[in-house]
Amino acid sequence: MKSTYLDDNIPSTPGKFKMEKSNYYHRLRWHYPYLAKVTFWSFVFFGLIFVFLFNSSTISTDLSHKSLKIKSWGGPGWEKRVKSSTKIRSETGYSVIVTGAAGFIGSHVSTALKRRGDGVVGLDNFNDYYDPTLKRARQVLLEKRGIFIVEGDINDTVLLNKLFEVVHFTHVMHLAAQAGVRYAMQNPKSYIHSNIAGFVNVLEVCKNANPQPAIVWASSSSVYGLNTKVPFSEKDRTDQPASLYAATKKAGEEIAHTYNHIYGLSLTGLRFFTVYGPWGRPDMAYFFTTSV
Ligand SMILES: NC(=O)c1ccc[n+]([C@@H]2O[C@H](COP(=O)([O-])OP(=O)(O)OC[C@H]3O[C@@H](n4cnc5c(N)ncnc54)[C@H](O)[C@@H]3O)[C@@H](O)[C@H]2O)c1
Repeated sequence: MKSTYLDDNIPSTPGKFKMEKSNYYHRLRWHYPYLAKVTFWSFVFFGLIFVFLFNSSTISTDLSHKSLKIKSWGGPGWEKRVKSSTKIRSETGYSVIVTGAAGFIGSHVSTALKRRGDGVVGLDNFNDYYDPTLKRARQVLLEKRGIFIVEGDINDTVLLNKLFEVVHFTHVMHLAAQAGVRYAMQNPKSYIHSNIAGFVNVLEVCKNANPQPAIVWASSSSVYGLNTKVPFSEKDRTDQPASLYAATKKAGEEIAHTYNHIYGLSLTGLRFFTVYGPWGRPDMAYFFTTSV
């Protein structure tokens, strides 16, 4: 019969079999520390990969859309740009941070403030709710006018605190939001992320800033919801929202009231009706309806 490797190690007297003397066992002993090390480092390696993937997936699901996941701010060069952008050029000028500055209204407001002598810096996450190329083009335009847009999310407390550390803003023009009504069917969380959580984060940072800035922010005519009475009045009821977007704007109004009531924050909400003009939003009806 053909003998095998194992056959070679079977003792002639089974009762006296001593494992430690077999070649097989010696090989195992030689390999064991090596195998243990490989196993240990494999666990460490795969563990690190898991932690990394878990963290990045947390960030991407936290954010409303694909937006910058890599920290793109900080450092002396960055601070210098922020300071230069917020340099006040008029005796009565303010230092203003405009959230949503790469957006339609934000880019116009930033330009107007800069033109009258205010120091202006923007903040925008350049999300892909509509083609970010348009936001980038607005950014280039603002850059030419001496306005720097910081890339970041309004939910990023560390970034907001840093901005308030670098500049003592007198005003916050808060326009960053998830706009649009229909998109809520696709991505409802983006409305909560930007219009509620993000807004609260902005208010928290403002509340803690010294001096506290005055805040002007964008609510919406959509808060009038199912009202049939026209024309609308600020005194009309706003408790029948007809979309998730409207509900988050209405929630924003209540949240603003709370921060004013408890912390004395100065807050002014503007209920914009359909705003249109150059560099407008491609998701709005007027953009693709020729009969308007
Ligand atoms: N355009 C209108 O007709 C209209 C009507 C009523 C209310 N509003 C409100 O006015 C404001 C500006 O609207 P718009 O038409 O310029 O919209 P927009 O989408 O062009 O601008 C919003 C900007 O905010 C940014 N943004 C969104 N979430 C952000 C976040 N979490 N962090 C940082 N940046 C973020 C976006 O990238 C975008 O550039 C919004 O609050 C909107 O709800 C607009």
